[in-house]
Amino acid sequence: MSDPISPRKILITNALPYANGPLHLGHMVGFMQADFWARFQRLRGHQVTFVGGDDQHGTPIMLGAEKQGLTAQQLIDQVEAQHAESLAGFHIHLDNYSGTHHPENQRLSSEIYQRIKAKGHIDVRTIKQAYDEEKGMFLPDRYVKGTCPKCKSPDQYGDNCEVCGTTYDTTDLIDPYSVLSGKPPVERESEHYFFKVSDFEAMLNEWKDSPALQPEIANKLGEWFESGLIDWDISRDAPYWGFEIPDAPGKYFYVWLDAPIGYMASHEVACQQSGDDWHAYWDAGNHNTELYHFIGKDIVRFHTLFWPALLHAADFRIPTGVFVHGFLTVDGAKMSKSRGTFVMAETYLKHLNPEYLRYYFAAKLSNNVVDMDLNLEDFAARVNSDVVGKMVNIASRCAGFIGKRFDGYLAKASAAPELHQAFADAADAIAQRYEKREFSIAMREIMALADKANQFIDEHKPWVLIKDEAKIDEVQAVCTAGINAFRALCIYLKPVLPDLVSRAEAFLNVDPLRWDDLQQPLLDHQINKFTPLMTRIESDSIDAMIEESKESLEPTLDPNSPLAKDPISAEINYDDFAKVDLRIAKIVDAQHVDGADKLLQLTLDLGGEQRNVFAGIKSAYKPEHLIGKLTVMVANLAPRKMRFGLSEGMVLAAGPGGSDLFILNPDDGAEPGMRVK
Ligand code: MSP
Ligand code: ZN
Repeated sequence: MSDPISPRKILITNALPYANGPLHLGHMVGFMQADFWARFQRLRGHQVTFVGGDDQHGTPIMLGAEKQGLTAQQLIDQVEAQHAESLAGFHIHLDNYSGTHHPENQRLSSEIYQRIKAKGHIDVRTIKQAYDEEKGMFLPDRYVKGTCPKCKSPDQYGDNCEVCGTTYDTTDLIDPYSVLSGKPPVERESEHYFFKVSDFEAMLNEWKDSPALQPEIANKLGEWFESGLIDWDISRDAPYWGFEIPDAPGKYFYVWLDAPIGYMASHEVACQQSGDDWHAYWDAGNHNTELYHFIGKDIVRFHTLFWPALLHAADFRIPTGVFVHGFLTVDGAKMSKSRGTFVMAETYLKHLNPEYLRYYFAAKLSNNVVDMDLNLEDFAARVNSDVVGKMVNIASRCAGFIGKRFDGYLAKASAAPELHQAFADAADAIAQRYEKREFSIAMREIMALADKANQFIDEHKPWVLIKDEAKIDEVQAVCTAGINAFRALCIYLKPVLPDLVSRAEAFLNVDPLRWDDLQQPLLDHQINKFTPLMTRIESDSIDAMIEESKESLEPTLDPNSPLAKDPISAEINYDDFAKVDLRIAKIVDAQHVDGADKLLQLTLDLGGEQRNVFAGIKSAYKPEHLIGKLTVMVANLAPRKMRFGLSEGMVLAAGPGGSDLFILNPDDGAEPGMRVK
């Protein structure tokens, strides 16, 4: 049965993950929930566009790139490819995935800003902020630490204390220091641009009481109204990785301004590909299209207060719904790197089938803002019992008989019209559950139908009937009922298990299943050979995934460190080392060499014996600075004939080259000629 207004035009987004690291299983909660819902709506025949992308701006990305020796552009490109791969791995089907640094987003962000500014909703104010003089930048709260003014715990963040939970201003911290330089920050003034959220109090009040919000979110909004709407600081000073504000050199949009506009930009890119009309979704006063945002509970203020106000201020429509989900815990606790429960998406995919997790999340998700626990034991038990033991089992119990005895043909009539009816009758209720995002209830209702089908097969025992030639037609009719029950389960679970169902469609030899197919059973139709559609979860695979996710206690190497760039050589024994005769030498003379751009000619004194050595250190040392210094030389290196004369040894230096070359100096007391051992 289809909906009254059909087809609906639905635009769906999920929060844009930051481009500063890989996706983890927590990120998958929102993506999966949005994907279940998008696939459900598509299955019902509606026109769905599901877009996403990375959130590619802000200080952590700028500093993260710097730390890895990359440009910000290189980092965000790398991460985007990684994220897209993880999402595809979990069968998240997005119609477009493009990040917030996309030129389309710059154009839209500037346009929206200019519209709200023209209407007088931007205020310019001078504020005081922590500034790191050594690093030459203003410090976001998270980059200032110090001692908590209340409980005196050291190393607390600039906005709140993780020990006693007090929130305070950065300026209240005792002995504050910059996380970047370790130096105490100074206070500096700067002009900032504020979006006057308070101009939209009436509109936001109406929005609060609209069906767009879950009740607990509407309550939160109520609390924010009571404590007074605060204007929102949307600018940041250079150096900042983001979009420069039009007509404000050195000022950038705060990452959270252009982040949600990224939804619009990504949709614009999708429309360029599909030919759909972008304005029909975004222009104000449009009621024929629907817009839904799926987000986690930590970013509610941005999506339910600032975002609708911004859209409204710039003459765009406001969302039809903002769907907030809770956080993922693993085995009852916050995900932890040391326990190995902070599992990256790609680590999961190395060990386990993505549809195991899709089913488990669906079996646990509700439309409330509650945290969701991935209990690893329950995960295996639930998936093995429901999907493998109940659903797939129905097909495997019936397919063999149909294949072997009836050349793959289903009977012309089912043995169980009432079973078929029960499946068809459940359609509206299950659709309502999906529509309301009551996924866990939907899964329970679907599995109750699977139980019914298994009972039916248990009662009719085709494996017994088959022994009696007279009952052969009955075997075909019973198995036809079973296969039809399986087919109906496939339709119901297609939003959650798209890959399994696509393989089931090949087995059933049918076109892609649609919701409406529930009404017509599959009869007098040839199916294909059955191959196992899903195997059980082995606890070994879960253990291996957890083991791999445990953060090793060894510090990870900074890829820029000398050791990472030039790893330690193959092992040698002491005798190998002892062959090298290292001696303290005094540089008694140093000269430029005519015609050599890298070499200096050194005269080294070994305490009685002098050596002539050509050293490639001209780019780092002036001859006059070397004379009189003690250093270390290889004294038994075979002399080498060079264009400029004979080189009788080698001085030791460290560093990559150029001006970064450092010759060795012995500690005070060493004398020329001493052996280094
Ligand atoms: N970049 C912002 C969102 C901008 S949207 C215009 C952001 N990024 S994030 O990477 O930190 O989070 C992306 C989404 O994942 C958010 O919806 C967030 O709530 C969700 N989750 C991150 N960790 C999570 C869990 N452990 N559990 C469930 N969801 C979590 O916020
Ligand atoms: Zn404290």
